[in-house]
Amino acid sequence: MTETKSIHAVQQAREAELAQQVIGSFDGCANPRLKQLMVNLVTHLHGFIRDVRLTEEEWATGIRFLTEVGQATDERRQEFILLSDVLGASMQTIGVNNEAVGDATEATVFGPFFVEGSPFVGQGGNIGSGAAGEPCWVEGVVTDTDGVPVPNARIEVWEADGDGLYDLQYDDQRTAARGHLFSDEHGRYRLWAITPTPYPIPSDGPVGRMLQATGRSPMRAAHLHFMVTAQGCRTLVTHIFVRGDELLASDTVFGVKSSLVRDFERHQAGAAAPDGTVVEGSWSKVRFDIVLGPAGV
Ligand code: BEZ
Ligand code: FE
Repeated sequence: MTETKSIHAVQQAREAELAQQVIGSFDGCANPRLKQLMVNLVTHLHGFIRDVRLTEEEWATGIRFLTEVGQATDERRQEFILLSDVLGASMQTIGVNNEAVGDATEATVFGPFFVEGSPFVGQGGNIGSGAAGEPCWVEGVVTDTDGVPVPNARIEVWEADGDGLYDLQYDDQRTAARGHLFSDEHGRYRLWAITPTPYPIPSDGPVGRMLQATGRSPMRAAHLHFMVTAQGCRTLVTHIFVRGDELLASDTVFGVKSSLVRDFERHQAGAAAPDGTVVEGSWSKVRFDIVLGPAGV
């Protein structure tokens, strides 16, 4: 017993010594922030290896997995960000960098489907561009944390179509279910979009295989993406989610915040819409008031 204990102590000392040696290798790092990042990374990495008693086979599997994540990444697909997303690392980073300020709207994950240069749709315009799905009237007001309306805020909206696919996922170069507009002089905005539906994240690569191996679903809760920029305000990247969606509690990228869940009011075919349009089929309506935090906070 005593011998086992002392072997254990020797082993512990060797492991701790190695970790300290690696940490010490950054002593001469001239950039203090880089030094902090590397020292912390090594501390946690060695802690992980020692805590789980990582086998050499597991180490090799991990290296193979990360290699595959790299190989799956190209101009059109960022498998590393997807990995960060499903591990909650993206949301943790967003949380750390978007501290709560007053009642500023919470931020959530950006996702891989934003495109620069979306069509301008204007007030009351339609971002659908022929995409499949049920029409959804979206309206609200953009204010700062003092409740003062923010005019001329650029509001980017994008989403998957009713079949659960973004335009980028089709091979035909279409642009659909994305667009932008600017808040009016009272901070108000309104547009037609598509009632969000749940869809899976790209799961035909190593991240998808990891989700399957660990018994996790690739599904995201139904959502509508927003990015709102205005002078003097912190840029907001967020979504709204659909109250009652059963995936709210299991969103695979941990993007759901209860403050972002909204009622999507259902309307039958023939009911006049807020802009006087008579929609052919059923449609929905949602209100999303956006509160922007101050820039630099
Ligand atoms: C999305 O919402 O579009 C998304 C977010 C994270 C990973 C994959 C997709
Ligand atoms: Fe999305």
